[in-house]
Amino acid sequence: MPGTVLAPEALRVVNYAHRGASGLAPENTMAAFEAAATHGAHVVELDVRRTADGHLVVMHDPSPARTTNVAELFPERAEAPVSDFTLAELRRLDAGGWRDPRHAGERIPTFDEAMDLFAQRDLRVLLEVKAPGEYPGIAEQIVAELRSAYAGWLSGRMIVQSFDWEFMRALRSLLPRIPVGLLGAPDVAQLSAYAGFVDHVNPPRSAATAEYVESVHQWGMAVNVWTVDDPAEMSRLIANGVDGIITNRPDLLHATFAVA
Ligand code: G3P
Ligand code: CA
Repeated sequence: MPGTVLAPEALRVVNYAHRGASGLAPENTMAAFEAAATHGAHVVELDVRRTADGHLVVMHDPSPARTTNVAELFPERAEAPVSDFTLAELRRLDAGGWRDPRHAGERIPTFDEAMDLFAQRDLRVLLEVKAPGEYPGIAEQIVAELRSAYAGWLSGRMIVQSFDWEFMRALRSLLPRIPVGLLGAPDVAQLSAYAGFVDHVNPPRSAATAEYVESVHQWGMAVNVWTVDDPAEMSRLIANGVDGIITNRPDLLHATFAVA
């Protein structure tokens, strides 16, 4: 059955915390990852990009403008991309105060820092590689970092996904034992072409009809839908047969759909 790699028996769907529990804490911060762990998530989703000096960091947007105080510290680069900043510069930014003063002082995590937490807490990971075409060699870099520090821990605990499907094909060949996810909704006619290297098709909620989910399942792939925070919609999508729900509110998914 699709999705069983990460599916706990106690829940009808896998509970993926989107950018951590980002409905409860500032997205893609250690606070959001800790909140995911304590509010029922089974898997933590996070986004990675790369700094000017070659470090992998956890950030959704192309620029730190929306989720940090970069405009205060670097007004001349207020809208500049992550790749214009060194790691030391990014680490000076406050990545929590924009969301809630309680979270002031949160820092942009490095990928290694986040991975260390996941390994310590034995949290499973849905790793999204953002805009890989903008970061030459990022596939090899991710593979090297995973192999050097987490090789003994990764098996059955990580999925890698991207909106760039050809990048995922290349990554699969570098990391043959790590499941691959495609973000988006390939046409039903295209599914056979992807089934050879893809384990998860992760569409937006509007695309996850019962018919589409069934088509993906027929090719042996799981369906994890994003981003769903309304329990009524969670219920509808579960009825459509999805294997996982990617949510900012893992607490609501857990409270509503966990079974004894
Ligand atoms: O994991 C699904 C979701 O993260 C994809 O969209 O923009 O939130 O990265 P986005
Ligand atoms: Ca993401």
